[in-house]
Amino acid sequence: MSTENTEKFVAAFAASLADKTFVKMTLGNYRGTDAHLQKLLIRLVETKKGTRLFFLFRQDTRDTAKNFEFAEGVAKVKESLGADFFSGHLFTLNNDFQLDIGKKGKSRLNVAKPTFKDKPEVAHNREKQTLVSRNSFYLKALGITTDKGEIRDKQQDKWRQINKFVETLGSLIDKSPLADRNELNIVDMGAGKGYLTFAAYDYFKNTRGIDVKITGVDTKSELVGLCSNIAKASEFENLRFVQGWIGDYELEKTDVLIALHACNTATDDAIYKGIKAAVELIVVAPCCHQEIRPQMKAPDFLSGIFRHGIMLEREAETVTDGLRSLLLEKNGYATKLFEFISTEHTPKNNMIVGTKHAKTVDTEKFNEQIQKIKNFYEIKEHRLEHLLNSPK
Ligand SMILES: C[S@@+](CC[C@H](N)C(=O)[O-])C[C@H]1O[C@@H](n2cnc3c(N)ncnc32)[C@H](O)[C@@H]1O
Repeated sequence: MSTENTEKFVAAFAASLADKTFVKMTLGNYRGTDAHLQKLLIRLVETKKGTRLFFLFRQDTRDTAKNFEFAEGVAKVKESLGADFFSGHLFTLNNDFQLDIGKKGKSRLNVAKPTFKDKPEVAHNREKQTLVSRNSFYLKALGITTDKGEIRDKQQDKWRQINKFVETLGSLIDKSPLADRNELNIVDMGAGKGYLTFAAYDYFKNTRGIDVKITGVDTKSELVGLCSNIAKASEFENLRFVQGWIGDYELEKTDVLIALHACNTATDDAIYKGIKAAVELIVVAPCCHQEIRPQMKAPDFLSGIFRHGIMLEREAETVTDGLRSLLLEKNGYATKLFEFISTEHTPKNNMIVGTKHAKTVDTEKFNEQIQKIKNFYEIKEHRLEHLLNSPK
């Protein structure tokens, strides 16, 4: 097995640290013994003891991090390549280096023009390490951080939500058939002020080095204008915002569809668009459930529970999202429904995730189940079902 390319790659890494041109590095194609480890992301961090290499070990359910001195970090990378990790992507201000090691030890090293012209600001270790870089311009422009890059007191919940969302989306993609893609097309339906849209773009593009294109869709032209200006000022060239209704938006070649807190049945419109366009991953966090509650009549034996408005409201939300999940399954998606952040930070925290699969689905079984639920609560109409059943 020739190790010449690995040695050149490691030497380029060490040289970039020495001449201060190192930007970041990713090791992938993990074939080691840790069942949970997927990738290793490396960047610089400023600590009390000086600049260190920050290793972020990306696992399927959580991430762990460790700092290393330069020599130690270079040695770790050297021993991991060809043993645990079989690909490496090094970004420096001079060149990008892509190393791929094949099964029989044959390797390929590509050297390309640099993606990055400027060094990223180095994070400080005393700040809790977050996936989203707090020094980003868009966070300032959207009022999340101060000019010094500190999170504003009133924005702490939003900040946690942004980080949790990015972490969740990254992990969902890692567990989906999109896991090893170098390019991703994402559409964010009901993008609003774009907090999550910007953070997702920044993370996939700049932290993970994926060639990502994101389009945010919203009906409010003033928000679309604001976000477009901030995207331009941030030099996020493949992030765009368009004004329009979700129901009218034509999806083109989309891998991931997100709709976070898109009001009421706008979530159904988004899921419908995703199903029709055979989008691989559909991620929605519904809110303002207003369609089902006025229709719902609980049977007499439950009246002691549902005479309390709040109980009926929660039941209506459960039924609405449960039906959404069943309809996704009926249409060839495996689903998960979970709380993506604790209710302490936002009450709008349920997430429905659909991942497309190619297995045969017993649609009759789903029709029966859905009809039974509708009959039980005397529900006449569910928007997503209506859209899916309407002739095109
Ligand atoms: C509560 S905000 C959420 C914004 C963002 N996704 C977030 O989670 O921070 C909902 C946004 O969805 C937009 N919206 C609601 N219904 C829509 C529809 N049918 N088509 C396009 N945009 C819609 C609203 O204008 C609003 O900006």
